Amino acid sequence: MTDERLIDGKAFAADLRARVGALVPAFRGVAGRAPGLAVVLVGEDPASAVYVRSKGKATNEAGMESFEHRLDASVSQDELIALVERLSADEAVDGILVQLPLPDHIDDKAVIAAIDPAKDVDGFHVVNAGRLAVGEDAMIPCTPLGCLMLLKDRLGDLTGLDAVVIGRSNIVGKPMAQLLLRENCTVTMAHSRTRDLEDVVARADIVVAGVGRAEMIRGGWLKPGATVIDVGINRVSDAEAGKTRLVGDVATAEALAHVGAITPVPGGVGPMTIACLLRNTLVAAHRRAGLADPEGL
Ligand code: GUN
Repeated sequence: MTDERLIDGKAFAADLRARVGALVPAFRGVAGRAPGLAVVLVGEDPASAVYVRSKGKATNEAGMESFEHRLDASVSQDELIALVERLSADEAVDGILVQLPLPDHIDDKAVIAAIDPAKDVDGFHVVNAGRLAVGEDAMIPCTPLGCLMLLKDRLGDLTGLDAVVIGRSNIVGKPMAQLLLRENCTVTMAHSRTRDLEDVVARADIVVAGVGRAEMIRGGWLKPGATVIDVGINRVSDAEAGKTRLVGDVATAEALAHVGAITPVPGGVGPMTIACLLRNTLVAAHRRAGLADPEGL
């Protein structure tokens, strides 16, 4: 029997991808072309290569155009920026994603700044971070957007709930806090320097954990009935089984004795990121074509 408290991000993501795909023909009809997503990979990092391949495949499956650009790890920052500028000016490209991390000799910020904010489907450009903060239409980073979708699907209206976001990264923690604030939550941001994290977590109706430390948040810390979104993907060695396995930032088995709902790792937040990337690409395509945002996404 499946545990009703486990949030099935894989199923939600598959449904979202299908809904995005179903809206592509109408866009094609009006715009005379498919939405296009350009993904740029620098170097040979195996994990990044896997992500980029799955992004390209998902893009094609949704009926969109995928443009893949693979550059040698030795590429200069100026050459990479020149490519991003070309993609920013290319009418067939609605979304640009530069896979992170970049090699040490390249400044992420300078590269992201070269992306046309209208095509910034990662939501990493300062213009989009600013728009999100002041409540204007923004491109919203995919992982926190996926977390919010799962929360609203489970809880409905989030107004007045106490939410604790653990981790203050620009990719997850900060935009997550902005999104929860926009949903009228009372938001606390916790991080590696927070004192008495256990007490902070104990108050939360909603916990979003994105710290990158295996099973750091213990089940006994959680408020009974809390909804937990675990963004962590940590590889740990399982000596008994003689192999490695993936665990989240939350001790899931312990947490199940306390929570109302929790995302598993894997199969929780992970699949939502690519689904939201496709969603953002479709939204970017509509906005660039002067169309209203597609409904129901
Ligand atoms: N590397 C790991 N996750 C991401 C992501 O969401 N976007 C980009 N651009 N790079 C990543």
